[in-house]
Amino acid sequence: MTQAHASKPYVLVLYYSRHGKTAELAKLIARGVEQTGMDVRIRTVPPVSPDTDSSLPAVPEDGAVYCSQDDLRHCAGLLMGSPTRFGNMAAPLKYFIDSTSGLWLSGALADKPAGVFTSTSSLHGGQESTLLTMALPLLHHGMVFAGLPYKNAELSETSTGGTPYGMSHWAGANNDQRLSDHEKALCLAQGKRVAILAKALLQEG
Ligand SMILES: Cc1cc2nc3c(=O)[nH]c(=O)nc-3n(C[C@H](O)[C@H](O)[C@H](O)COP(=O)(O)O)c2cc1C
Repeated sequence: MTQAHASKPYVLVLYYSRHGKTAELAKLIARGVEQTGMDVRIRTVPPVSPDTDSSLPAVPEDGAVYCSQDDLRHCAGLLMGSPTRFGNMAAPLKYFIDSTSGLWLSGALADKPAGVFTSTSSLHGGQESTLLTMALPLLHHGMVFAGLPYKNAELSETSTGGTPYGMSHWAGANNDQRLSDHEKALCLAQGKRVAILAKALLQEG
């Protein structure tokens, strides 16, 4: 089993967010990780456009810093989030994932737990397709995919976001709906779950 880096183990919360909603989920999920005593590292990825490479600043103006290959390589677990774009993850995150073939070749992420999360403007606008397709590259990396079990009562009670495949938020047509109490509780639960799995798998390794 691939070991995390020699420094203190951490769960990586990696996300892209254009308008802040996926970032809100990421913060709560990170808090769930921390509630287990596990360290957390929050990272984002740059936007992409045809002139991406020449126009980007090396560091973002605010918020989380950009994820490096080493941030990903050395994590003990991963929580990856993206807004839904046409029922799929957003291009900036996919662009970053597509740069990780070196990690795939070395098996750096194999046997580490991973979960996914998303935000959408419409309730039935593709949350589940986004979450399931986000899982695919992580499975190729050999990660142990962790959803959200129904023992979290909020999953049965929610009338907005939250799925067994991972956390989701229904942000509304103007992307301005607040996270519901159910969504908040499920974010914490997802962070905790991946952190607990990361600790257990580290001990196995
Ligand atoms: C190009 C594009 C495609 C989108 N596709 C969908 C979609 O398929 N389903 C949906 O419900 N919302 C869709 N949205 C809306 C975003 O998923 C939604 O506003 C999300 O909450 C934004 O997250 P953010 O605040 O983290 O950027 C799309 C937005 C853009 C810009």
